[in-house]
Amino acid sequence: MSDETSGVSEAEIAVHWGEESYFHPPASFSAQANLQDKNIRDRFSLDNFPQCFEEFADLLTWDRRWDKVLDTSDAPFFKWFVGGRLNASYNCIDRHLEKHSNKTAIHFVPEPEHEAIQHMTYRELWVRVNEFAALLRDFAGVKQGDRITIHMPMVPELPIAMLACARLGAIHSVVFAGFSGKAAADRIVDSESKLLITMDSYYRSGALLDHKEKADIAYEDSKNQGHAVDKVLVFERYPGRYSSPTPIVEGRDIIVNDLLKDFRGQRVDPVSVKSEDPLFLMYTSGSTGRPKGAQHGTGGYLSYAAWTSKNVQDIHPEDVYWCMADIGWITGHSYIVYGPLALGASSIIYEGTPTYPDAGRPWRVAEELGVTIFHTSPTAIRALRKAGGGNPEKYNYHFKHMTTVGEPIEPDVWKWYYDVIGKKEAVIVDTWWQTETGGFLITTMPAIDPMKPGSAGPAMPGIHPVIYDEDGNEVPPGSNKAGNICIRNPWPGMFQTIWKDPDRFVSTYFAKYNKDPKSTDWRDWPYMAGDGAMQAADGYYRILGRIDDVINVAGHRLGTKELESAALTVPEVAESAVVAAKDDVKGIMPEIYVSLQPNVEPTEELRKRISDAIAKEIGPIAKPRAVWIVPDLPKTRSGKIMRRILAAISNDNNDVGDVTTLSNPETVDLIRKLHTK
Ligand code: WT7
Repeated sequence: MSDETSGVSEAEIAVHWGEESYFHPPASFSAQANLQDKNIRDRFSLDNFPQCFEEFADLLTWDRRWDKVLDTSDAPFFKWFVGGRLNASYNCIDRHLEKHSNKTAIHFVPEPEHEAIQHMTYRELWVRVNEFAALLRDFAGVKQGDRITIHMPMVPELPIAMLACARLGAIHSVVFAGFSGKAAADRIVDSESKLLITMDSYYRSGALLDHKEKADIAYEDSKNQGHAVDKVLVFERYPGRYSSPTPIVEGRDIIVNDLLKDFRGQRVDPVSVKSEDPLFLMYTSGSTGRPKGAQHGTGGYLSYAAWTSKNVQDIHPEDVYWCMADIGWITGHSYIVYGPLALGASSIIYEGTPTYPDAGRPWRVAEELGVTIFHTSPTAIRALRKAGGGNPEKYNYHFKHMTTVGEPIEPDVWKWYYDVIGKKEAVIVDTWWQTETGGFLITTMPAIDPMKPGSAGPAMPGIHPVIYDEDGNEVPPGSNKAGNICIRNPWPGMFQTIWKDPDRFVSTYFAKYNKDPKSTDWRDWPYMAGDGAMQAADGYYRILGRIDDVINVAGHRLGTKELESAALTVPEVAESAVVAAKDDVKGIMPEIYVSLQPNVEPTEELRKRISDAIAKEIGPIAKPRAVWIVPDLPKTRSGKIMRRILAAISNDNNDVGDVTTLSNPETVDLIRKLHTK
């Protein structure tokens, strides 16, 4: 938690707006919506918990029906739909073949505009997942329960690889392609992955990036840390034409597109797994330097992704659905791959940057494919607006529904989204959730709840939030006070544990408000999300941001400790401190303060080296907005760095608070002067 020394948390700087008035969903939207029942939240009241969630599981095809909806005997390690068996790949593909074999499952939009959009039917997806699953099983020896790290860009081969793992009951761990080889290595080691699946190259902002070089780093680095993968499987961006300057390592690297020829026509029976068998790991940053592997189960997670896709995203069979997130994050897992495909929908995968080659690109895609549902982040909306907006009015598309996710959205940005991108025709849902939660927790239900710009909304049916103060007292709605947002009850989408670290699972998310660690009653285990929030008198929640040492940059979670230790890999750096600073486009960006070893001169070159070290260790998204080289970091007498003071300076806040308890109060003015230069 944020003690005095750990800095100004996001929650204190992120949200600075008041209550707004309501916008009502268009009648035309409400009349066609999947969910029109105004009493839905009664059906999902705590009195009906946990049986109410059977409605979620009933959206799936089970090999064996569950005996028990929720098992709390090992709380807070909750098990959903116990006794049930199913396969996620079967649910996302095979079961649609009878009626929708020829329907597009995935529209792939390459970044270069002259490359044609590819439309992959459910039948073709089935063929390709089967052939790749056969390769994984019979060539690479993959078995149920094995972990597989997938470090791939936004191409159809990514969900193919995920679904092939799921078909075999293997656990995938997808690493965002923008992350470094080093970051992939850490995740390979922690998950003890058997294989690394990667791609030679991909397009981003007009350039064909060499991605294979990251695989070499990931392999070497993980091997040096004591865990080597058996093989590196490399997909080609252009099948049959290897497109990376980084050579193939004989014996270790396999070009998948060559080898697949041996598996043509092969079919793999989906492995029927237990509902609570893990489907995937998704690593996310926390307060320590080590990312944690959020482990998601199969039955609960898939039920939750499917129900929320149907009723919050309002996906109908004839919709064309475009979520612009990256599959390397949880949003892409739940709302590009698993949710939409479980429903048999048509989901778009876009390879590149939204503003490439200009801000009109998304609207050309929307027009060409007839997109009806659009899903993106406040950062992307702000970036599109900054790039001129791309004249949505010139393009003939009509969104019925739009989503925003990942960060608080300013009412002003919300209204631009509504007026300009949505052409005042689309309903908007502002969905609050996390890697750990598997799917949406707080959102309006699009046909029945009015929207309020800047507020995520009331909770999902079946989700019962509560805001606690530091002492565990409930903060009532309308009190105008913020606190820690928690969820009173477990839900099917919630993660099962942190991979290989159950103690951290309990201590990070449950310990603070649990009064009896031996209790097997779910009521004793509220889930603490790690965000500050306020609830208005009408019940709507405003999410203020992280309360821990995590910064949410452009909707991507970064641990300040990870950045600080990356900076320390530069030998001249003695100490470092990262703070969150408000940013016009990305919402929040990191700034880093460093002090140097004795007799080292601060230079521009050194500053760049520190920034580059962070990009190399973590990835370019972690690059700080500024590197401040300071003579000394402000510290308490016991030697703790006072990040709170640095954060105030980075946010142009003159009120740095009490500095009299510092051991070196004079540094504060020196640092402030650096800033005003
Ligand atoms: C953190 C989770 C949810 C998938 C993408 C990010 C912030 C998320 C909202 C929202 C305000 C939001 C929270 C949360 N966040 N959605 N609608 N309004 N803040 O997943 O990387 O696990 O990050 O993102 O701070 O804790 P993640």
